[in-house]
Amino acid sequence: YDNMSKISIIGAGAIGATTAFALLQKGIAREIVINDINQEKALGEVLDLMHGSSLCRPCNVTLGTLEDTKDSDIIIITAGSPQKPGETRLDLVDKNYAIFKSFIPRLAELSPNSILLVVSNPVDVLSYMTYKLSGFPKERVIGSGTVLDTARLRSLLGKYFEIDGRTVDGFVMGEHGDSEFVPWSSLRIGTIPVKSFSEQYSIEWDKETEKVIAEDVKNCAYEVINRKGATAFAVAVALVRIVEALLRDEKTILTVSTLLNDYCGVSDTYLSVPTVVGKNGVEKVLSVDFSDEEKEKFTSSARIMREYIDRINGK
Ligand code: LAC
Repeated sequence: YDNMSKISIIGAGAIGATTAFALLQKGIAREIVINDINQEKALGEVLDLMHGSSLCRPCNVTLGTLEDTKDSDIIIITAGSPQKPGETRLDLVDKNYAIFKSFIPRLAELSPNSILLVVSNPVDVLSYMTYKLSGFPKERVIGSGTVLDTARLRSLLGKYFEIDGRTVDGFVMGEHGDSEFVPWSSLRIGTIPVKSFSEQYSIEWDKETEKVIAEDVKNCAYEVINRKGATAFAVAVALVRIVEALLRDEKTILTVSTLLNDYCGVSDTYLSVPTVVGKNGVEKVLSVDFSDEEKEKFTSSARIMREYIDRINGK
C-alpha cells in the first residue's frame, strides 16, 4: 500500500515519541513531523529516530514548527499535561483545553484535508473541543477513545483464559476514563458467549468476575503510571492500529471516540462506540444491543462528558 503519507505528531512526550517509533517500525509513513513546545526534547527524539531510520522503510523524521505540519494527512495530537499519580484524566481538562485553544485552529488551517487524531486527556472532551475549534466535519476529528481500553480488555481476557486475545469479540465503551464500561452481554470469544466459553474451559465466570476484569481494565493506566510515570507502549500500538485503518482504508471496526447523534438518546457528545474506520475517518457509527444496565452506564458516562463540555462552554 502507499506509504506516501505525511503524519504530524504534536507533543513529543512519552506517547508522542513512542508512537513515532511504532509508526517508523510499521513503515507506514513517508514523512513524520514532530512538534513540541520543548524543541530540545523534541529534537532529541527526532535525532534518535532518524539515526535508526535507514534500517526501516524510508521515512523522513523531522523536527517541525506548527507551520511545518502543513498538508499533513493525519495529525496525532498528544500535547498537554499527562496524568500524574493520583490524577484522573478529567482533572486535566482546563489546562489541556487552554493548550488546545492555542494551536488547533492554526493546525486545521494548515492541513484542511487532514484527519485529526486526538490523544491528549481527557480525550473525549478534548476531541469534542477539537471538532469545534477546527471546524472540520465530525468524521475527520477522531479521539483515540477506548481502542486502547479494548486492547487491554482483550489482553486481560486472553491472559485469563490463556487464549489469543484477538479472538475476543467485545469492546470497552463510553468515556476513555473512569466511567467506561464493558458491555458483557454482547461479548463473545470466537462466537461463543463468555459464560459458555468458561464452562468449556472449566474456568470460573460470574458477575463478580466481570466486575473484577472491567475494574482491572479501567485501572490499567493507573497501574502503569504509578510505576513508570506514564503509559506509552500500549497507547502507541493502539494509535498505530487507528492510523493503519485510516491509511489503508480498512473499514475495520474500532471503538474510537466520535460525535454521537441520538445514540441511545445521547447527542452532541464525543464518546467511544464501535465505528467503521476507513480513509474518510469515521465512516459509520454502529449501535450495540445494550442490556438495561449497560444502557444506564452508557448514558451516565455521556452525562459526565456533557457536564465537562458545558463547563468549558461556560454554561
Ligand atoms: C492511558 C492514558 C494515557 O489510558 O489515558 O494509558
